[in-house]
Amino acid sequence: MENYALPNEVSGGRMGGMKFLITAGPTREALDPVRYLTNRSTGRMGYALAGAARHEGHDVVLISGPTTLDVPEGVDFIQVETAQQMYDTVRDLLRGVDVAILCAAVADYRPVSVAEHKIKKSEGRLVLELERTPDILGSMRSEFGYKGVLVGFAAETQDLVAHAREKLLRKGCDMIVANDVSRPGIGFGSRENEVTLITADRAESLPRETKEWLAMRIVEHALSLLP
Ligand code: CTP
Repeated sequence: MENYALPNEVSGGRMGGMKFLITAGPTREALDPVRYLTNRSTGRMGYALAGAARHEGHDVVLISGPTTLDVPEGVDFIQVETAQQMYDTVRDLLRGVDVAILCAAVADYRPVSVAEHKIKKSEGRLVLELERTPDILGSMRSEFGYKGVLVGFAAETQDLVAHAREKLLRKGCDMIVANDVSRPGIGFGSRENEVTLITADRAESLPRETKEWLAMRIVEHALSLLP
């Protein structure tokens, strides 16, 4: 692995030196050698988070599914494809991490089996059998024994704060970044987003802003949760 502990020139040593692990982008779950299941995530929010943390002088490892984005300078980058690969990579790289922000739009289901050869079309319907992928966020405390600050994302269409807070408690998160995906022009595929930062005792709505601006606020807020 490339050394990502670069000199702390950006922050002048102010707040830098924490270790961030960030997941980003979609995952791809193969059906056959030429087809896969995925989603509309571009990875922009996660890459902006990695850039923001690096800009503040922190060590950053970015674990990403396939995207077309440039990796922010100075960020240690690991490309994965499937939810299982992302799960394994996160587990293996958690040692010494102070802040984990799981922003990836991980596929919740994958085909039960991957066809060895391209599936040929025939008359009538084709039924796909899917199974659950591992829940990375839900494994951080219980399976991986992770003790640092844990930030998850949630996409909700109703009762945003209540649903996000329930997720926060269930998965042992310190903060959930919740966005209302029923609103047009923000979130998936957009350059802007409008999110609410939810902790155990507070909910702070941030203005509609670029993902780069929001990333700076999210990183700041996550750092404020360090013991
Ligand atoms: N996540 C994960 N591993 C998965 C699925 C999701 O780490 N297999 C993470 C995402 O990166 C994100 C959060 O979990 O931080 C999203 O949680 P999830 O429960 O999947 O959320 P929604 O899709 O918003 O919700 P729902 O429970 O309504 O399906």
